[in-house]
Amino acid sequence: MLLKKAFLAFSLISLGWTANVEPFSYTNETFLLHGKPFQIIGGQMDPQRIPHELWSDRLAKARAMGLNTIFSYVYWDQLEPVQGTWETSGNNDIAKYFKTAQEHGLNVVLRPGPYICGEHEWGGFPFWLSEVPGMVVRTNNKPFLSATKSYIQNLAKDLKPLLITNGGPILMVQVENEYGSYGDNHVYIGAMRDMLKAAFGKNVHLYTNDGGEESMIEGGQISGVLAESDGDPKTGFAARDKYVTDPSSLGPQLDGEYYVTWLDQWASNNTHQTDAGNRKSIQTVQSDLDWILKQNSSFSIYMVHGGTNWGFQNGADWGDALEPITTSYDYGAPIDESGRTNDIYRAIRQTIASHVGEHNIPDVIDEEPLIEIPDIKLGPSSKLFDSLPDPVAKKSPINMEAIGQAVGFILYRHVATSATKGNINVGDYPRDRILIYVNGRRIGVIDSLYVTPNTLEVSLKKNDVLDLLVENMGRVNYGERIVEQRKGIVGNVTLGDSVLSNWQIYPLPLASPPDSTSSNVKIAKASGPVFFEGTFDVNKVGDTFLELPGWTKGVVWVNGVNLGRYWTIGPQQTLYLPGCYLKEKENKITVLALEPTGEEGSVRGITTRNWGNNPDPDAPSG
Ligand SMILES: *[C@@H]1O[C@H](CO)[C@@H](O)[C@H](O)[C@H]1NC(C)=O
Ligand SMILES: *[C@@H]1O[C@H](CO)[C@@H](O)[C@H](O)[C@H]1NC(C)=O
Ligand SMILES: *[C@@H]1O[C@H](CO)[C@@H](O)[C@H](O)[C@H]1NC(C)=O
Ligand SMILES: *[C@@H]1O[C@H](CO)[C@@H](O)[C@H](O)[C@H]1NC(C)=O
Repeated sequence: MLLKKAFLAFSLISLGWTANVEPFSYTNETFLLHGKPFQIIGGQMDPQRIPHELWSDRLAKARAMGLNTIFSYVYWDQLEPVQGTWETSGNNDIAKYFKTAQEHGLNVVLRPGPYICGEHEWGGFPFWLSEVPGMVVRTNNKPFLSATKSYIQNLAKDLKPLLITNGGPILMVQVENEYGSYGDNHVYIGAMRDMLKAAFGKNVHLYTNDGGEESMIEGGQISGVLAESDGDPKTGFAARDKYVTDPSSLGPQLDGEYYVTWLDQWASNNTHQTDAGNRKSIQTVQSDLDWILKQNSSFSIYMVHGGTNWGFQNGADWGDALEPITTSYDYGAPIDESGRTNDIYRAIRQTIASHVGEHNIPDVIDEEPLIEIPDIKLGPSSKLFDSLPDPVAKKSPINMEAIGQAVGFILYRHVATSATKGNINVGDYPRDRILIYVNGRRIGVIDSLYVTPNTLEVSLKKNDVLDLLVENMGRVNYGERIVEQRKGIVGNVTLGDSVLSNWQIYPLPLASPPDSTSSNVKIAKASGPVFFEGTFDVNKVGDTFLELPGWTKGVVWVNGVNLGRYWTIGPQQTLYLPGCYLKEKENKITVLALEPTGEEGSVRGITTRNWGNNPDPDAPSG
């Protein structure tokens, strides 16, 4: 009897206890998962940079490295490409990605921005924000708060069911992103907090993530939200301890972005960032992660797998000049751009295993070999300037966003009404890379990539046609110019003191390659951009890296998928082509050659990537 009573009391207590335990919470010292101390062993992997066909493979590999949590930014510009729309198919199906993560035994930390930096186009902001009157991004500005609120509400509709409190994998949601590196307006950061609480529920666990310096931590933290740091864990944790005193922002330490290496930017003297093959650097990574784990603290490796800036999705930094991010977002990550694991992966796995036990980590996954594709012969199929869309006629140039265009190219054409001559000025500053033609012949290149962009004397006779082909190289995601990111031409075009008026403006977003081809395309010296086409078969579908020997700069599509920009200056020399975009027969490849030389002939698939630089044929002299 006595025994039975005791048992009853015990089970009532244990039932009550279970019902009251939050699935995820934290004390000052530790996170708690289902009531037990829990270290977040995380890595960053963004769904929108990975073909959705490959999500499961990449997530399984992250889990097999020993990670228990995936951190993901989501890109607002891709989800709401036109204001008021909501696009969640293919690579934008974030809910599906998170469910797949859960199936692989991974928790999730959601980093929705609205500003995410992430070396992505305008840090995740959609281009159309530029055209909303009164808009100032990243501040307590009515138009910005209202656009953000609608975005966060749409996102919460899809993702709130996936919070851990609702049986999903999402542990926490980040408020803004490294805001303390940018400002210290706590009214704004408070508004971001409140918006997330309103959309995801008042019990959602929020955190901020800032660089490990006083001004950054103080600028970014906000009452009621767990404050965390990123970068070097020792400095970051010490700074958090020192500068966060609001008890409602205290909790266990998390290095929200532990960098193994760094990103790549186009430039003829930039080398690819990686620690692969560098034993000493890898040992430093191991000892940092080991230290964090021994502290009972948490981390997220930025990036565990970077993926690819498909199409025109790359961002740019602004330093002394524009620093556009390469198509590859390999990031020197343990799981490389093509999903292959390297010595960094194996080393980190070993470090994690020494803490959690090898038997608690799934086995390493076998990898398919990459495939070779012998030379694919390409022939010129059409000229960009021969199949222009209907133009918009304006007295003065207008920017890309003003005609509803997000990315790609835009052509400004002016016919001289009298002889004019002088140094050309293309608006307030070059945005970004401008190929300049007179009567169809290229006479120069101006690019904000160069600290001192080219100056160029242009001489026009009456009726001469001046073409300015402007390439949007990616809106700034980090640096002082981030506030205003209109592309194309902003301001007047002048030759010396003369303002050139009356422009035909042709939007060229190149959302897909052209389907009109001509059999008789001749490439003259310094001619305008030319599309090349070819077809190829493969013995067995698989991943490969496309190499473009002799090609200068442009864009590649395979079976209609935009694989991104290529540029001979490097450091990226090959484009990742995943097998999921291939079939065995009749694959179609289209290459846009912006500066054709007539030397372009073929493209091939190789099994090992090339990194390196070639001289920049357009570099300013002197
Ligand atoms: C964390 O520590 C602070 C300061 O020592 C204390 O005021 C606060 O109540 C603690 N919070 C929790 C959740 O234990
Ligand atoms: C490239 O080299 C030049 C000359 O040495 C230097 O001024 C410039 O800063 C370098 N650029 C980058 C991106 O490293
Ligand atoms: C980590 O947690 C364990 C178990 O709670 C404890 O014994 C140990 O002292 C903690 N280590 C540190 C550095 O706080
Ligand atoms: C461009 O030139 C026109 C005509 O000279 C002038 O009215 C206008 O103010 C100029 N715009 C800018 C932005 O300078």
